[in-house]
Amino acid sequence: MARKIDFKDGGDGRVGTGAARSDAGAKKRTVDHRARACELRPQREQLPVFSARSAIIREVRRHPTVVIVGETGSGKTTQIPQYLLESGFTRHGETAIAVTQPRRVAATSVAKRVAEEVGTSLGARVGYTIRFDDCSSDKTQLRFCTDGLLLREILSDPLLRRYSVVILDEAHERTLRTDILLGMLRDIQRRRQVLAAASGGGGGGPEEHGSQQPGAGAHTRFGDEDGGAQGDAVAAGVGELKIIVMSATLDADRFSEYFGGAPVLYVAGRQFPVTTYYTVTPQADYLDAAHLSVLQIHTETPSTSGDILVFLAGQEDIESVERLLGESAAHLPSAVPQLLVCPIFAALPQAQQARVFEPAPEFTRKVILATNIAETSLTIPGIRHVVDAGVHKLRGFDPRVGESLLVEPISKSSARQRAGRAGREAPGFCYRLYTEADYAQLDEDAVPEIKRCQLTMVALQLKASGVSNVLQFGFMDPPPKRALKHALLELYALEALDDKGELTGLGRWMAEFPLDPSYSKVIYASQAAGCTREVIDIVSLLSVDSLFYVPADKRDESNQAQLAFRSRDGDHLTYLNLLRAYLAADGDKEWCHEHFVNRRGMRHVLDVRQQLNRLCSRLSIDVSKTCGTDLDAVLRCFLAGFFHNCALLQPDGSYRSLNGSQTVHVHPGSSLFGKKVPAIFYDQLVFTNRLHARAASAADPLWIAQSSPKLYGRLASAAP
Ligand code: CDP
Ligand code: MG
Repeated sequence: MARKIDFKDGGDGRVGTGAARSDAGAKKRTVDHRARACELRPQREQLPVFSARSAIIREVRRHPTVVIVGETGSGKTTQIPQYLLESGFTRHGETAIAVTQPRRVAATSVAKRVAEEVGTSLGARVGYTIRFDDCSSDKTQLRFCTDGLLLREILSDPLLRRYSVVILDEAHERTLRTDILLGMLRDIQRRRQVLAAASGGGGGGPEEHGSQQPGAGAHTRFGDEDGGAQGDAVAAGVGELKIIVMSATLDADRFSEYFGGAPVLYVAGRQFPVTTYYTVTPQADYLDAAHLSVLQIHTETPSTSGDILVFLAGQEDIESVERLLGESAAHLPSAVPQLLVCPIFAALPQAQQARVFEPAPEFTRKVILATNIAETSLTIPGIRHVVDAGVHKLRGFDPRVGESLLVEPISKSSARQRAGRAGREAPGFCYRLYTEADYAQLDEDAVPEIKRCQLTMVALQLKASGVSNVLQFGFMDPPPKRALKHALLELYALEALDDKGELTGLGRWMAEFPLDPSYSKVIYASQAAGCTREVIDIVSLLSVDSLFYVPADKRDESNQAQLAFRSRDGDHLTYLNLLRAYLAADGDKEWCHEHFVNRRGMRHVLDVRQQLNRLCSRLSIDVSKTCGTDLDAVLRCFLAGFFHNCALLQPDGSYRSLNGSQTVHVHPGSSLFGKKVPAIFYDQLVFTNRLHARAASAADPLWIAQSSPKLYGRLASAAP
């Protein structure tokens, strides 16, 4: 290895005695669910949270809301829902327990594990539901879902009557949807308390005499189950809602205060010392630094000293490092064990996600390349070395610029969580790819997402859930008023709200979609225009970050190959051409390789497309409507949702955005790059070193004027 990264000891860790590595997970999966559950029982009982089992059940019985804090890996997510299930909180299946996760991957992988531990097949007593993927049934008593999904459920079930307990997991992440859920659940809890008292119903959980034998909980009925027929359909059958807020970081008092002084339970963790190293000098290219560090760790420490977990910012980073490592791994000396590179990020197909949890074959070391998904929401066994690039992708929003997705430094609290992943099973090592001085500059905690992101979808969901005054909603941390007002105006321009600020029929329809309202508006417009098929194809394509891969050393070849799909109208139709060509080639591996098409990304596109088609069919939208060769119709549909993302050509060849008068550049990877068209619209703006339009297409300025009567009404009538 020619280049080396110099690290120095941060001096905040000690190296203790090694503990034996657990290889219990290596046992072969058996088909017999029960046998597997029995086999897992001793592991479950060794988790730190097990000793707190009875205290947890007792507190949840006594209080409407309980906050539980515990180190990552202590067993919160997998065990606590089971304790409640075993203690009768689902009333023998009359009600269910929902456990929300900020991330899809966490919801599915944890559900799978818990189904095994409970001894049932996934989708039966234990299941999951995430956007575009439902693996549950009406028998499901323990449902893992994303926080976004539970928010959507409130639209059809405003009191969440099917649940007796909602567990908000990973609350410390303070994602946008977790914050909204906190507010809505607090409200639902109060309303159910009132209704339960009025109808004489009992509490949400079994009463004190409930035994702790699995499934032997007391059977207190929820009010009068048949009362619905008599008129008060809402009051009937609604008991108290128990809320459990779970967090991996200590600052839980905010949650407790928010729920009127809810008790906080601390689960003692089990953490081995982690020796932390910093780079001696700043690293200009953290991808290269990550790649070299992994090779250094791999060649300088025995592979029996544990697997390596690398934290990177996003899918593109992961794919770059995966390629770099793939190339280097092929040239390792024969005495050095093999490297097995396993990526994990939200958009990764599930079959491939499962690989990170499986032990590596003999004489092989696993390197897991992850986003911050592995920070607290997934525990991967066998990790002893952590490489931390110190960055994550952060959604930002500025009403003048729009939404941005930027790679930003993490907080100190994240850096500590990342280091902690190395010391779960034995003393470990954390290699930070930044200097100690840089670490000192990091913010203590991340700013809650609600304070820095676009709120259009949230405002629509709040409106559709019956919150009439969104500005007065009881947020734990209120977002900037400016951002909320902007969101309401945007909904008005999209015709989801009327002049009085009330939800329109179209707004209600749009809220049915788990998509940004701009996309649902496009789908709506496609019905009249008769091009729903093309629109759904393109919306699916836009949902995936990297459709092509562009290796640094083959940029020209890759660009050349992409020319085959180019549409002179821009990226939307270019993507459509790509999908058609991919389907014609039957997704062939060789074909993808030749055309620099990201096969993994394309499979994800097909997945999303299938789910969107299903959803549309359920809403009686004819998804087979196609416009044939009249593709202008497709572009005009997109303008119906993206009229706020338009820019006009300037004399210097750049574009100026219509809503914020910002200078916008067409991305070098775009099919419009270097071309001059009078006007463009784009999917989003991405700020790297300057503002780039992601997925840009040409638009006739007259179409823009006609796209939003609310916004450009006067403009349109003045047009010739
Ligand atoms: O939620 P928390 O971080 O407290 O822990 P958890 O996710 O419940 O994990 C508890 C244990 O279950 C860990 O030791 C994990 O290794 C194990 N687990 C697993 O083996 N497979 C999964 N898919 C999830 C957890
Ligand atoms: Mg957890």
